[in-house]
Amino acid sequence: MKRIHWGSKLGFILATAGSAIGLGNIWRFPYLVGSNGGGCFLLMYFLCAIGLGYFLLLGKLAFGRAAQTNIVDGFAVVAQKNNKTVSPLWGWIGGALAMLNVLLVSGVYVVVIGWTLAYVILGGHCLFSGVNLIHSQTFSQLTSSFGMQLFWGILCIVITSAVLIRGVKKGIERLSFILMPFLFVLLLFMALWIFFLPGSERGLTFLFVPNWEAMGFTTNGFDVGVFADLFLTAMGQAFYSLSMGMGVVFIYGSYLSDKTDLKSATKWIVGLDTFVAIMAGMIVLPAVFAFGLTPAEGPSLSFVSLPMVFSQMSGGSVLMLMFFILLFVAALTSLMSIYEGGVSLMMDKLKISRVKAVLGLAGANIVITGIILASFTKKMNLMMGKQDLFSALDALTGKYTMLLFVLFATLFMGWVVSTDIIRNISQGAIKQQSKFFKRYMRFTLRFIAPAILLVLFVSTLFK
Ligand code: PFF
Repeated sequence: MKRIHWGSKLGFILATAGSAIGLGNIWRFPYLVGSNGGGCFLLMYFLCAIGLGYFLLLGKLAFGRAAQTNIVDGFAVVAQKNNKTVSPLWGWIGGALAMLNVLLVSGVYVVVIGWTLAYVILGGHCLFSGVNLIHSQTFSQLTSSFGMQLFWGILCIVITSAVLIRGVKKGIERLSFILMPFLFVLLLFMALWIFFLPGSERGLTFLFVPNWEAMGFTTNGFDVGVFADLFLTAMGQAFYSLSMGMGVVFIYGSYLSDKTDLKSATKWIVGLDTFVAIMAGMIVLPAVFAFGLTPAEGPSLSFVSLPMVFSQMSGGSVLMLMFFILLFVAALTSLMSIYEGGVSLMMDKLKISRVKAVLGLAGANIVITGIILASFTKKMNLMMGKQDLFSALDALTGKYTMLLFVLFATLFMGWVVSTDIIRNISQGAIKQQSKFFKRYMRFTLRFIAPAILLVLFVSTLFK
C-alpha cells in the first residue's frame, strides 16, 4: 500500500509541534521551574533542548522517514538500506515498548485532559453566570469523584477518536492548522495581559534571572549533586516535551516525503515547543507571585493556585477560561499524536481498517483510564507499592519505560544505521551538511545520548 504523506511542510511542522506542545509545556513546565529554583532551570532546559533534544528529534524523524513504514518493520527496513540484516527482535521489542507506552501514557494523559475539559466548562459557566464557581475545594471534589472524571475522560477520548478516524491529512493535519495558530494567539495575548499586571516583575525575575545557588554554585563551592539533579530533571522534561518515548516522532517522520528539509522543520518544532513553555512560565509564574502564592506548589499549581489568582483579578474569569482552553487544545493535539502511534501500528500489524484501529484503541483507553481512576479515587484497592495507579504509572512511564524506548531506538540509530540516518537528513536539504555536523550527530547518537539516558535511568532507580 502506498504510504500516506503530510499535505505540506507547514502542516507537518504544526502537527508535530502540536504533539510536542501539550500538558508538558503548559502544566508541567511552570511548576518544574517553580520547584527547581526558577531561572537556572530555564537555562538548563534551554541547553538540554538545543544541545541534545534537537539532535535526537532530528535523528528520530529521519529514522521514520527512512523507514516509510510502521515501527515494528521499520528497524529491519532501515537496516537493509544500510546493507545490514538485523534480528526481527529489534522491531518486536521496539514495537512492544512503544505500544506499552501508548497504552499507559494515554491512560494517565486522559485523566488530566479530562480535568482540563471540566475546567473549561466550569470556567465558561463562571464567565456567563458572573458567579465564581471555582473555589479552593473544586479540584479535590473533582479528583475524588470516579464518575465525573471518567465522564470527562471519555468525552476527550470521543473527540480524539473522531479526529483520528478522519486520518492523517484530513484529521490531524487539518485540525492542527486551525488549533495551533489559535493556541499561539491565545498564549501571546495572555502573556501580554499578565506582563502588564502590577507586581508581575517578581515572577518574571524569578523565571528569567538564574539563581546560581540552585544550580549548585554555592558560597562553599560547587555542589555536583545539585547540578546533576537539575540537569537530569531538565533533560527528562526535554525528552517528554519533545514527544519522545513512544514511537510518535518515528511515525510522524514516516509520513514525510524526501522533499522536506528536515533540519529546518526540526528547528521550527523545537523552537515553537520551547517558546510555548517559556510563554506558559510567563503566564503562570507572575500571576502566582503577584498574589503572594508560592510557585513550588507542584502539579496542583494550574488547577488550584491559578484559579484562585484569577478569581481575584479584574477580568480574571476571561483569563481563566482562556487558560483552560489553551491547556485543553494543547493537550488534545498531543493525545491525537499518542493515538496515531498506536493506530498506525495496529492498522499495519493487525491488518485492520483505521476505524477499527481507532475504536479498538479508544476502547482499551477507556478501560485503562477506568482502572487508573478506580485506584486514584480509592474505589478499588489497586496500588503499586505505596502509590495509587495514577501516580505510579505516571512515574513508571515518565522515568523508566519511555526512557527505555528512547535508549533502545537511539542505540539502534547510532550503532546500526547511523550512516543512513545522516544520509536521510541531507535529503531535501538546500545546503550540504558540514563534516562537523555529521560527526557531532553520529557522536551524539552513539555516545552522548545513550550515556545521558543511562545515567538518567540509573539515577532514578536509586532515588
Ligand atoms: N509532548 C507532550 C507534552 O509535552 O505534553 C507529551 C507527549 C506526547 C509525550 C506524545 C510523548 C508523546 F509521544
